[in-house]
Amino acid sequence: MADTDLIPAPLTAEHPGGLLPLDASTALDAGPGTGPTARWLRSVLGAATGLPLPDGTGPGAVRLRISPETAEAHGPEGYRLSVTGDGVLLDGGGPAGLFWGAQTLRQLLGPDAYRRAPLPGRTWALPHTEIADRPRFGWRGLLLDVSRHFTAKEDVLRLLDLMAAHKLNVFHFHLTDDQGWRIEIERYPRLTGAGSWRARSKRGHRASPLWDDTPHGGFYTQDDIREIVAHAAERHITVVPEIDLPGHSQAAIAAYPWLGNTDVVDTEALTVWDTWGVNPNVLAPTEEVLRFYEGVFEEVLALFPSTFVHVGGDECPKDQWKESPAAQARIAELGVGDEDGLQSWFIRHFDRWLADRGRRLIGWDEILEGGLAEGAAVSSWRGYGGGITAAEAGHDVVMCPEQQVYLDHRQDAGEDEPVPIGFVRTLADVYRFEPVPPGLSEEAARHVLGTQANVWTEVMENRDRVDYQVFPRLAAFAEVAWSALPAPADRDTDGFLRRMETHYRRLDALGVAYRPPTGPAPWQRRPGLLGRPIDGPPPIV
Ligand code: ACM
Repeated sequence: MADTDLIPAPLTAEHPGGLLPLDASTALDAGPGTGPTARWLRSVLGAATGLPLPDGTGPGAVRLRISPETAEAHGPEGYRLSVTGDGVLLDGGGPAGLFWGAQTLRQLLGPDAYRRAPLPGRTWALPHTEIADRPRFGWRGLLLDVSRHFTAKEDVLRLLDLMAAHKLNVFHFHLTDDQGWRIEIERYPRLTGAGSWRARSKRGHRASPLWDDTPHGGFYTQDDIREIVAHAAERHITVVPEIDLPGHSQAAIAAYPWLGNTDVVDTEALTVWDTWGVNPNVLAPTEEVLRFYEGVFEEVLALFPSTFVHVGGDECPKDQWKESPAAQARIAELGVGDEDGLQSWFIRHFDRWLADRGRRLIGWDEILEGGLAEGAAVSSWRGYGGGITAAEAGHDVVMCPEQQVYLDHRQDAGEDEPVPIGFVRTLADVYRFEPVPPGLSEEAARHVLGTQANVWTEVMENRDRVDYQVFPRLAAFAEVAWSALPAPADRDTDGFLRRMETHYRRLDALGVAYRPPTGPAPWQRRPGLLGRPIDGPPPIV
């Protein structure tokens, strides 16, 4: 174990031996444009170490620099970190690169640099170091589903801190689904008034007979969202909001029953869904529904500066549209052929609508069915296939195949794994995930913006359960997304697992309830709760 066990691994690193001590006199020399990272260092390292890092120059100082030369040398997210007997020089290729370099500096200080107050008597030193680093992908994402189980604002802010510690830079915020609407929309108060809570929840997989009769709910006010977006931006993380349509919409329909297919279901009787699975209650294909969601997106755009806005588009059963005379009349009127045509009509509408406002639509790979609008991007989740098709057609793609990087899937085949879902995806399996499938043409590969791990929370009822599923695997994922790793068969998995021994100490200091390598602690088990494990290795699709 050594503090130089960096995760994600930098492009090049040398540690020639020797230590640079840091003490109360160590000064911070923050050059032009480096103020935000200087503030972050003072606040985070100041808390952990008690060192004041006063403004100053001279021997032993920590120097932060951004300039046209460093931009040219390292690229916007790259950096160079040099620690010698004379002090620290951190050159950022841009503000983001400088910040990622500061994260590396924190790792080099040791696990106690992740605490919130100094341990008595602790002294501090940095190993002499020469690092040059930059990321492989520009989109290094994590999706959190806050609909199936709500994540309190404080815990979202904490997760953003944890993402930043792993150099991840896109937070895909899954804000709406059948089981809860989580974002305040001022013009439609019932979305949160009625749509943000359910009377009870299924415990375990949907086939489980058990219920939790405690009402479940919660939502973010618009000021909460502004705070989350600002906290993310300070950490060079973009928040991509997702408002799922035309499926996954029962919570919205429960709040405003006219959004649903009222000629085939009694939508007045619908409540926010209390169990899991693919839900038949989808939006009605009317002009009024489009206007309603334009109203939602107007408020969403005012809150989220992200270029990409996610509109879902996944798992939209067509049964109600098949049965509904009104939907059938719409198919004829619009000339879209069939129910798949209605789905593309929804997506194309918002693709144009977002483009007119200078934004770009991203959706799940189902949006490819029926033809994808120009400029739209795809989150490839049912495997690589959708991503390959999209990239070959010139669309940008984020690779997040469920067989590989769905962190709700179980981490081990053992009986003690809590509510086991899906394939076994161990820490080492995630480390061997490759976002760019072999055989993709060079041109198409350029459309792979990056990769994302997705966390669906049906069986994660609280923060500790989310921690357990996300960690330690997010560390392996972060290295896949950031580091210049060779092809999976050539990856040094043993070396990564050795570095993880140090990383577990960092996660301990951060208070992360990860899955220990030896298996779940007794309180991390969920005996008697039904999961839905899938046997055998995941297919590569
Ligand atoms: C998804 O997992 N339905 C995107």
